[in-house]
Amino acid sequence: MPLLLQPLELRGLRLRNRCVISPMCQYSASDGFANDWHLVHLGKFAQGGAAVVFAEAAAVEKIGRITHGDLGIWSDEHLPGLRRIAGFLKANGAAPAIQLAHAGRKASMQRPWFGNGPLDAADRARGDEPWQIVAPSPIGLDEGWLVPHQLSLADIDAMKAAWKIAAGRALAAGFEIVEMHSAHGYLAHEFLSPLTNKRTDAYGGSFENRTRFTLEIAETIRSVWPEDKPVFVRLSCVDGIEGGWTIEDTVALAVQLKVRGVDVIDCSSGGLMGSATAVRVKRGRGFQVPFAERVRKDAGVKTMAVGLILDGAQAERILRAGQADLVAIGREALYDPNWLLHAAAALGAEGGFESWPVQYGWWLDKRRQSMSR
Ligand SMILES: Cc1cc2nc3c(=O)[nH]c(=O)nc-3n(C[C@H](O)[C@H](O)[C@H](O)COP(=O)(O)O)c2cc1C
Repeated sequence: MPLLLQPLELRGLRLRNRCVISPMCQYSASDGFANDWHLVHLGKFAQGGAAVVFAEAAAVEKIGRITHGDLGIWSDEHLPGLRRIAGFLKANGAAPAIQLAHAGRKASMQRPWFGNGPLDAADRARGDEPWQIVAPSPIGLDEGWLVPHQLSLADIDAMKAAWKIAAGRALAAGFEIVEMHSAHGYLAHEFLSPLTNKRTDAYGGSFENRTRFTLEIAETIRSVWPEDKPVFVRLSCVDGIEGGWTIEDTVALAVQLKVRGVDVIDCSSGGLMGSATAVRVKRGRGFQVPFAERVRKDAGVKTMAVGLILDGAQAERILRAGQADLVAIGREALYDPNWLLHAAAALGAEGGFESWPVQYGWWLDKRRQSMSR
């Protein structure tokens, strides 16, 4: 039996296999509300056999959205749409998961297909007005970008409360896994990296101070998240920039997160200076897997590998080699929502479409039988 297809227990949650669908912003919400697009987009992955399906980065505060199209969880009004998604995922065998996020200085941007830049006149004409962004230090992303307001200590306290309330909402909506987004140059990552955090108070300077925000938020999420349900944290394991955050920093932080009840470190990278993706880190197949391996071995915590994991054989090698406990699939799942079911067939573990939803599998197996006759 391939390891990819074997169940995994995380606290009281039993995952049907080791395949996770990575959070992927659809930039298709209005005022943060999930709609039919999100339901169908995510629902396909549950039908496609993944063990965990992550709803995209959901903003814990309205100003924490990357774009006007981001999903939101800053209000109780967002609950019904999210509840519908979580319910469908669970009814179809996947653990419903959600990523909580705040974009920090990378908020108030154009949707990718409108340029991924600062909001401009064309966006305003569409009704997408820019807003005041916040960050640990008043340093804009680049020339021509908004300069963030530096968060005061009182602002940080309010922020902690916002994450806590959002985690409570995620639970109320029926999600079974929550992930804190502390990667890709968004708010929490901006606190971690010495390149974006120039504070001189308790939240800046030393490693201990720069990690305080992520640790406190993780703690506050854990305080409302039930003991029998897992918490994940996504980290950019390296900035890939001189003087930035390093893999040694990640290992040290992962140890601290584990102590605070975090179950899985989701090992991504980059994004601090560029757009949402890991542009500063050289990319190839499985390019971030060594980070997941290092964190798993040196911090003694479960890890999720992500980034250009394309087929079942590659995923199986990663799991067998002990490089990660879970594999996350992003774009390849956009290409093939039935990724896990196809991987199972390619690994020789699927003969008669047994793992497929019966509404599909029954017919496909009949067809297979008739063609083999
Ligand atoms: C359309 C799209 C949206 C994404 N949105 C998010 C997101 O909401 N949160 C996040 O942490 N990463 C996000 N990512 C990054 C993915 O989760 C994943 O880490 C990345 O695409 C690398 O994996 P892949 O090579 O399998 O696509 C996004 C990626 C894509 C392609």
